[in-house]
Amino acid sequence: MPSAVAHGMLAGLSEIADIGRDRRAGGYSRHLWEPAEHELRAWFAERAARLGLDVEVDRNGNTWAWWGAPGPDAVVIGSHLDSVPGGGAYDGPLGVVSALEAVARLQAAGFVPGRPCAVLVFAEEEGSRFGVACLGSRLLSGAIDADKARSLTDRAGITFAEAAVTAGIDPAHLGRDQESLDRIGLFLELHVEQGRGLIDLGEPLAVASSILAHGRWRMSFTGQGNHAGATLMSDRSDPMVAAARAIVDVQEAALASPGSRATVGRIEALPGGTNVIPSAVHAWLDARAETDDQVHAVVADISARVQNQHAGCSATVVEESWTSTVTFDPDLAARLALALGGIPALPTGAGHDAGVLAATVPTAMLFVRNPTGISHSPEEFATLDDCLAGVEALDTLLRELL
Ligand code: GLV
Ligand code: MN
Ligand code: MN
Repeated sequence: MPSAVAHGMLAGLSEIADIGRDRRAGGYSRHLWEPAEHELRAWFAERAARLGLDVEVDRNGNTWAWWGAPGPDAVVIGSHLDSVPGGGAYDGPLGVVSALEAVARLQAAGFVPGRPCAVLVFAEEEGSRFGVACLGSRLLSGAIDADKARSLTDRAGITFAEAAVTAGIDPAHLGRDQESLDRIGLFLELHVEQGRGLIDLGEPLAVASSILAHGRWRMSFTGQGNHAGATLMSDRSDPMVAAARAIVDVQEAALASPGSRATVGRIEALPGGTNVIPSAVHAWLDARAETDDQVHAVVADISARVQNQHAGCSATVVEESWTSTVTFDPDLAARLALALGGIPALPTGAGHDAGVLAATVPTAMLFVRNPTGISHSPEEFATLDDCLAGVEALDTLLRELL
């Protein structure tokens, strides 16, 4: 059995600790089908092969490692290896590494599964390259139209279809994959917690109860591109000013709707020169709340506020992705919590592939305490003891489920 621990981290996390480091942003930038992500996939395939698992990539780019013959009614565990720009070491990889570690433990103990089991790595969970989060699970389950997925573009204008070809995926075969879905009896995703729930409870682990409704919108502002020195302030139609006002509106709209969250984390000025008044500015809005209606009300409020904000500029707000509130199967969550000695259940504001799959197959999640309470940032963390408790929990659940 490979050693679980290396350099104070789960061994798998330590093995990939140098892959995709982002020197500019800090943390990791591991984006779909870019060199770092290819390296992570190769690492996963090698690690899985060492355990005697059979690795296959499905037609949507998700990677499966089968312990024994594939499905039906398989227990599938896993998460993702891609990251946000400048992300932490745990969001995604902790679930993958813990899944491999749990399988290694069971094998070392001579455990023989009574039903099929696979470790699954989803593609483009963060949507950092093509803009739609959980793209691999959305495609697998048919939650996104394949044509829409094919036409998504990255920042260089490369379409998802074009990038798929370079990764050996035939874009004509993207979309709902009934054969793969039929193999899943249950999907279980272990994930680092991304808030302070477990810190406040003083507990290392929880099962997930629900995920906030959330979506992404592109706010676009157009004006007149012009010279920064030759254009009088009174003569400008500057979409950057319209965008700046809109960003303040986003904060005000969310503050006016208690419990909701709205963020602009990415902005792009075109053409983007220090001495150029932009002709257009795009700002991406991420909005979340407990109910679908609340998110839609916040976004409607933002859309109304951002119109006609700055002389000569126009604004549009266009939805790019949407996920309704997810309530995980309470009976399944309670059963798993009980098997783990009565651990608590927690809601989350973060999206997950498990949340997408929950509409299609029995699904549950386990959260591991994050002592910083910070995520999507290099400060994201989990202690080795808590990570080991997570592996132990997967080990216990697999013994019960397999
Ligand atoms: C994924 O981590 C998300 O919640 O955006
Ligand atoms: Mn994330
Ligand atoms: Mn994640």
